Amino acid sequence: MRNVNQDTITQAVIARLAETPDPRLKEIMTSLVQHLHAFAREVKLTEAEWFQGIDFLTRVGQKCDDKRQEFILLSDTLGMSMLTVAMNNDKPAGCTEATVFGPFYVEGAPEFDLGEDVAGGAPGVPCEVRGRVLGLNGEPVPGAELHVWQADAEGMYDVQREGLEHAQARGVLHASKDGKYWFKSILAEAYPIPTDGPVGEMLRATRRHPWRPAHLHFMIKAPGYETLITHVFRNGDTYLDSDAVFGVRQSLIADWVKQPDGHYLVEYDFVLNPAKGQH
Ligand code: BEZ
Ligand code: FE
Repeated sequence: MRNVNQDTITQAVIARLAETPDPRLKEIMTSLVQHLHAFAREVKLTEAEWFQGIDFLTRVGQKCDDKRQEFILLSDTLGMSMLTVAMNNDKPAGCTEATVFGPFYVEGAPEFDLGEDVAGGAPGVPCEVRGRVLGLNGEPVPGAELHVWQADAEGMYDVQREGLEHAQARGVLHASKDGKYWFKSILAEAYPIPTDGPVGEMLRATRRHPWRPAHLHFMIKAPGYETLITHVFRNGDTYLDSDAVFGVRQSLIADWVKQPDGHYLVEYDFVLNPAKGQH
C-alpha cells in the first residue's frame, strides 16, 4: 500500500476497516469515511481550511465541561440533533411529537405536588400550565411522571446562573389518577442559545441568529409507554419559523392565554406512544 493518491485514498482507508468485528461499527465507519472524503473533494478543501476546521473542533471540545456541552450545541445548530430525533421517533398518528432534548435538563430536580409553583423565585410573569397525559386511545395515564424545565424572563436556565444554589423553573410532578397535571410556573419567553463559544462564532459568520422561540420542556415517563421528550411552544412567537436548532413542530404550538388578573394559562394534552410490544 504505497503511493496512495487522491483517487485511491478513500478505498485504502475503507479496506483498512475490513477486520472490524462489530458490523454496525464497520458500516458507520465506512460511510463516515466515504462522506468525509466526498465532502473534502466537493469543496476542494485547502490545507488552511482543513486546519481551521481542526482548530474549530478543538475549541468546541475545550468549551465543554459538566455544565456546558458545546458539541451538542453544534449538533443542534447544524440540524443533526433534530434529524436524529425525527428519524428515531416515527410515532403513530395522534401521538405527541418529540423534539430536541437540549443541554439544560438536570437530573434530580425537585419534586412537586400538583398545583405547586415550580418557579422557585425565577423572574417572570406568573403562569399556570395544565393538561392531561393520555394514551393513543384517549385513555388517561395515571401517575405519569412529568419532568418540566424552562428558561426565565431573562432567557436564563437556572444552571446558567453562577452561584445559584437551588433549582429554579424546573421540577418533577406526577399526573393525577385521571391523567391530569397542573402546576404554576412563569411565562416562557424566547431566548438565545449560548453564543460565547465557537458555535456562536459559526452563527455570526453565517449571519444566523441564535434565538429559540419561547417553550416549555417536558420529559414524560410512564410504565408501558415510550418516554416522550418534547417542548410546548408559545403561539405567536417571532422565532417559530426560524428556531436556531430547528426544533419546532406545528403540533407542539399552544396558546398562552392572558387571564384577567394578568397571569397566563396554557393547556396542552400529551399523547404517549405505547412501548414496543404493547401495541
Ligand atoms: C433548549 O431548548 O434548552 C436548547 C436546545 C438546544 C440548544 C440550546 C438550548
Ligand atoms: Fe429550552
